Amino acid sequence: MDTEHISNSNEFLTILIKKGILVETDVFERIKEMFEKNNTIACLVAKSICNDCIGEINLKLINEKISFFEEKNNIDKQGKIIIKKTFKKTRKDYDAQVNIRKIKENTGKKDISLFCDYFVSRYDKIKKILMQHLDLTNLVSIGNIKSARGYSDISIIAIVKDVIEAKTGTIIIDAEDKSGTIRVFAKDPDLCKNIVTDEVIGITGSSFAGGIIAKKIIFPEIPFPVNVNKIKEPLKAVFISDIHIGSKEYLKSIEEKFLKWIEKDKQTEAVKYLFISGDNVDGVGIYPSQKEDLQIQDIYDQYSEFESFIEKIPEEIEIMICPGNHDAVMQFEPQIALDQEYVPNLMNYSNVHLVKNPDYAYLHNNDGNNGLKVLMYHGYSFTSIIDAIPELRKKGLSHPEHVMTEVLKKRHLAPIYGSSIIAPAKEDNLVIEEIPDIFQTGDLHSHCLKSYKGITLISSSTFQGQTSFMNKVGHIANPGKVSIVDLHTREIFVKNFM
Ligand SMILES: [Fe+2]
Repeated sequence: MDTEHISNSNEFLTILIKKGILVETDVFERIKEMFEKNNTIACLVAKSICNDCIGEINLKLINEKISFFEEKNNIDKQGKIIIKKTFKKTRKDYDAQVNIRKIKENTGKKDISLFCDYFVSRYDKIKKILMQHLDLTNLVSIGNIKSARGYSDISIIAIVKDVIEAKTGTIIIDAEDKSGTIRVFAKDPDLCKNIVTDEVIGITGSSFAGGIIAKKIIFPEIPFPVNVNKIKEPLKAVFISDIHIGSKEYLKSIEEKFLKWIEKDKQTEAVKYLFISGDNVDGVGIYPSQKEDLQIQDIYDQYSEFESFIEKIPEEIEIMICPGNHDAVMQFEPQIALDQEYVPNLMNYSNVHLVKNPDYAYLHNNDGNNGLKVLMYHGYSFTSIIDAIPELRKKGLSHPEHVMTEVLKKRHLAPIYGSSIIAPAKEDNLVIEEIPDIFQTGDLHSHCLKSYKGITLISSSTFQGQTSFMNKVGHIANPGKVSIVDLHTREIFVKNFM
């Protein structure tokens, strides 16, 4: 019997028997009920099951097929298909859902003892992550190792005070926890190749009177597999950074093309979110002789131009803006958000979210949904990290995905003391405690759109051409590239305006 001619439960059951598919009593009853209740849907379900060439049939499958066809075909109570005129929904048809991370403000007296609290906080937070690693067996504190000599197969969790290469090629790590310090020796240099000072790592090995012989180094890392979260709504997000308004090298043509594209284009009609990851203006006095490179000399005039740019973006797009090292707010990280002083007009827009650097934006996580976590960090620490890790020196500036992956492995955005400016504080808020779905950075002015263990990595290019200062620090501009993420499918796209 041809599946096209199924019109009742008997015909459907006959085909199933001919196909050798066993029909249990409960399934048999459900099929009969399905045909009695709604013949149109039942025929569609039956034809679909026959065409799927399945080897068995159960209640779950039948119920799923019924739901699918009911939803798809808008069947009325009489079993007739209602043909509705559908129209393609755009961003205007959906409400935005954005929540920004709340962290405790560093109020109160600031003194030197807070630096100690800061590193204790870092140690405790990353220790908690490392404790989940199965490799860290027989975990002991450093103080206990020194008193008990000669243990094999022990583990410690420590902050790296220093990394030294001996003449023999052995790597020596000075490691510290709350109970003391110890020397760790690694005969295989590859074991320690990506270790930087001030990060928190796990070390396994054997102890002796003078220290530990390392067998394995364990980074806190991103556990695998990571859930690839998606949102239900068919919406997209766009990521840009390092606009540098005020610079003589500001590429106005990119701004014009971008604004035209974001306002009306097939690719952007579902764009509901825009993320801007710092260096919104070129700033004043950021580096020696910057004055000569400035088109707009006054910082307030630069921000006024920036406001005009933001005001031209359609209001139904939610815009998240964090500062960078060229912005006028304090440079301590987390940097506070831009405020009334610099962007008074933007304070009046409910779709503009002025956030810290770094910060998390949670999209569509209301009503118990996972939603998507977007971690925004300008990336000021990256140049120092690239410089500290030999493997990154060759390719790190032009391929930001490598340094982004490294900070995810270390679970810290600026592990090396001095790689970014920190304020004395009780808590280290640069630890990557929450695993993001999307990790966006800027600063290097190069572009990448990659994936690491399910996390979308975005380094957001720039609207600025190559400057003489960038020549000095070795940054090569790759301007005009805009990243797009489909939040419903997690597909990624690049739009090039150069
Ligand atoms: Fe920049």
